[in-house]
Amino acid sequence: MAASASDVAALIESAKKAAAFQAVEDHLSPTDKFVGIGSGSTVVYVVEAIAAKGPSFSANMTFIPTGSQSKGLIRAAGLRLCNLDERPVINGVSVALDVAFDGADEVDEDLNLIKGGGACLFQEKLVAVAARKFIAVADSRKQSPRLCTKWKTIPIEVLPLAAPDVLNRLKAMGSPNPVVRSGLPSKAGECVTDNGMWIIDAPFPPLLLPKDLTAEVDGTGKNGAWEIGRLAEELVKLPGIVEIGLFHGFNGVQAVGLGKEFQAQKPVAAYFGTPSGEVQVQNAA
Ligand code: A5P
Repeated sequence: MAASASDVAALIESAKKAAAFQAVEDHLSPTDKFVGIGSGSTVVYVVEAIAAKGPSFSANMTFIPTGSQSKGLIRAAGLRLCNLDERPVINGVSVALDVAFDGADEVDEDLNLIKGGGACLFQEKLVAVAARKFIAVADSRKQSPRLCTKWKTIPIEVLPLAAPDVLNRLKAMGSPNPVVRSGLPSKAGECVTDNGMWIIDAPFPPLLLPKDLTAEVDGTGKNGAWEIGRLAEELVKLPGIVEIGLFHGFNGVQAVGLGKEFQAQKPVAAYFGTPSGEVQVQNAA
């Protein structure tokens, strides 16, 4: 007999919870001081896992939110909250986050991410780059060989005034039918982000990795074939785009070797809960 929709939903929730608890167990050290908390439904379990360790475990920790939802989660769990721009400054530099946990809409085999399904991508990226390491948590439906395979669109945060011109430019870049995200069913009109912006969801064909490129397919968008880095570079250059939901490039550990600390967008590991109750860990190569 096929599983009912409610059985499937319960399995997905327990998969997300298992991934979050394992990620916290493996990556939140009792000596950590500043911890990023992302947005979405999986991060709820990250906060639950931290709270389950008891007040003494997190007594010396401060939690940095990625938007109003995660602010609420931190407060409701009784954890110490600090906004990103209110972190202590030491030697003229805002203190680094020891670790940040966040969800993802799609994760490719090189740990590039699509984020922004819940419209929080801008602050999520600010928190990810402020962290020494970023850990993604999700259920196994989010695993994919290439981005835009299962999650077909890239969420793009735009200044409302610029939306018509950005839509035109996206079409010219090969996105077949980009649309401004609706706020329905909860809000009539456009979905407005925590930053007062709109989200455009731009479909693209599956995004290539550098290893996919050949003399014929150079990833610059010809015939719709984009390599993630090339596409991201073009998108962030467009006036009116505030931030994009592609998290790509390098991770926090690689950033140190590259001399590019606090510019890392990628996770060092992604935790995926599966319907069978296992947690699969995808570590950076
Ligand atoms: C919020 O805008 C997103 O980036 C979320 O982190 C992402 O959509 C994952 O959300 P779920 O954990 O609800 O799948």
